Amino acid sequence: MDPKNRIKQLVELLIKYNIEYYENDAPSVSDVEYDSLMRELESLEALYPEYVLPNSPTKKVGSLSSTKLEKIQFAVPMLSLGNAFSHDELREFNARITKDGIFPTYVCELKIDGIASSAQYTNGEYFLGATRGNGAVGENITENMRVIDDLPKKLSQDVDVEVRGEVYMRKEVLEFLNSKRIEAGEEPFKNLRNAAGGSLRQLDSNVTKNRRLDIFNYTLVNPEKYNVTSQIESLEYLQKLGFKVNPHYRHCENIEEVIAYIEEWKDKRKELDYDTDGVVIKVNDFAMQKEIGYTVKSPKWAIAYKFPAMEVETELLDIVFTVGRTGNITPNAVLSPVQIAGSTVQRATLNNEDFITERDIRIGDYVVVRKAGEIIPEIIKVNFERRKQDLKPFVMIDDCPKCHQPLVRNKNEAVHYCQNEKCPGRIVASLIYFASRPAMNIEGLGEKIVEELFELNMLGKITDIYRLKDHKETLVKLEGYGDKSVEAMLDAIEASKQNSLDRVITSLGIRFVGSKVSKILARKFTNLTELSNATYDELKAIKDIGDATAMSIVEYFGANQNLINELIELGINPEEKKEEDANQIFAGQTIVLTGKLSIYTREEATNIIERLGGNVAGSVSKKTSMVVAGEDAGSKKAKALALGIKIINEDEFKDLIN
Ligand code: IVH
Repeated sequence: MDPKNRIKQLVELLIKYNIEYYENDAPSVSDVEYDSLMRELESLEALYPEYVLPNSPTKKVGSLSSTKLEKIQFAVPMLSLGNAFSHDELREFNARITKDGIFPTYVCELKIDGIASSAQYTNGEYFLGATRGNGAVGENITENMRVIDDLPKKLSQDVDVEVRGEVYMRKEVLEFLNSKRIEAGEEPFKNLRNAAGGSLRQLDSNVTKNRRLDIFNYTLVNPEKYNVTSQIESLEYLQKLGFKVNPHYRHCENIEEVIAYIEEWKDKRKELDYDTDGVVIKVNDFAMQKEIGYTVKSPKWAIAYKFPAMEVETELLDIVFTVGRTGNITPNAVLSPVQIAGSTVQRATLNNEDFITERDIRIGDYVVVRKAGEIIPEIIKVNFERRKQDLKPFVMIDDCPKCHQPLVRNKNEAVHYCQNEKCPGRIVASLIYFASRPAMNIEGLGEKIVEELFELNMLGKITDIYRLKDHKETLVKLEGYGDKSVEAMLDAIEASKQNSLDRVITSLGIRFVGSKVSKILARKFTNLTELSNATYDELKAIKDIGDATAMSIVEYFGANQNLINELIELGINPEEKKEEDANQIFAGQTIVLTGKLSIYTREEATNIIERLGGNVAGSVSKKTSMVVAGEDAGSKKAKALALGIKIINEDEFKDLIN
């Protein structure tokens, strides 16, 4: 589907889901599916700003508020949070903050899966309760919140205050209520969140009272009025006033400690008597929060990490094999289709022979499949209790499924390879890879058409892609392709000639050379010719380029000189200007980091040093230019002292780089 229509479709779907979720407490899709659609919309809107619709849900928080309850206008809007689904996304969140020279500590709080609410007090007396509604206007639920025992009605101090938190239901309560409902022939609640939401929006607060809701509070509105300057202080002050705060929050020094907290709670959360669907991470210091600021709908100083929790059991119908561009053979599971997190899954990777045999996965087994965030579905284990009799143990294939040549498996590697350079499976995979998004990013030249053009002998090697323009007549006659789409594809092919050097290197599909290594190479070499003339020793001397990679690069260019010349002749010859950064204060220096750093993580400090021209080494030697010693630095610091090498502490390092 073209991006314009997909955007329209996503907007319509998400508006429908918002109403189901926020107004009816009856979502028809899982949170994970909702999040992934929202992300798809966000990225399409970023790519095609001209198609952004005025009613796009990416511009708004939540949805409209219900018509039945009275509306409450918030003086300070109730915002929502951006999401993270992986450790790397958390590190990116941190990097967006530190790149502006702000180095915060973070507060981690369990993300309670309930209904966001606001409670207002005058002179220490509770007088108004509201749901979040659309973030600007909420629904008046004062009387329903009054019957929540954990919400104080009289505070320990006579203050005017607004406090926000999450109303939730305990698992034990849901079980009890559902057993009653089933007895009475009523539909049971689907989950804790829906039960809490439905109970909170009752018109009769007696009904709410019987639902025994609880609340955890986490936000003090306008904290400066109470001389509160950080989230930790807020949580302490809230407790002093008499509010219930979730006890499991933690003050973390840096993003790695945040990640450790998440890992710790990943499984432990299952023991809690309420649902948590993630961890909310907030910059602790309010002055820093203010400096970091907001996007249209959420603060940039906080993020919600969502736990992956999508495991489903299904039958393994078959195992089939695909050939990758380097000849790597991947076994894939063909599954009896199942819904995981809202989408249908019928394929999952089985990685390699060892992966299958270690888990004793057999065709016909019932297997547990997991889908996490954007990651490809994977089989975790077999349910042996359901194993049928006579299932045969898995045996790896001996020959390539495409060219039928014998496969090899190298020592110390788990992967089988087809070594036939002319294997049609490998050629097609390398053509697909060449045009793919991380490589040359040629829109319109996807898997299907590449396979078709290969069959028609119109594509045999990557340079043929740039000769497709001579076959326009034939192309437009292909089924499913008209003048317009062929035109667009040919334009995209021509445009790809302007791609950067690192993209072109990536697209060659050299073994061990993905986009990261390509970027490193593009920083060192000016153009393809220079790279193709590089010797093993030159390559090996580059930081982060190992033996195997250097060897693989030399081998590739040795075997493909004609192809490279052809590419250059066709006009794919990007030049990378090598401008030395004027601020390369560590140029030529080798720096050792030791001890416990508190301002930067190891990774951040390493990145900074490398950006400024230096190298980071793991041990101190005569070649070391300088040691950055954090707290409790031990033997490395001692050795540096003995060798008379310059030692600075973290504060001095910070001054130096600023
Ligand atoms: S902070 C601007 N803290 O998660 C700050 N939210 O995805 C907004 N939630 O709408 C909220 N536990 O309903 C915050 N400890 C916590 C939370 C929490 C659950 C919910 C809340 C919010 C949503 C954001």
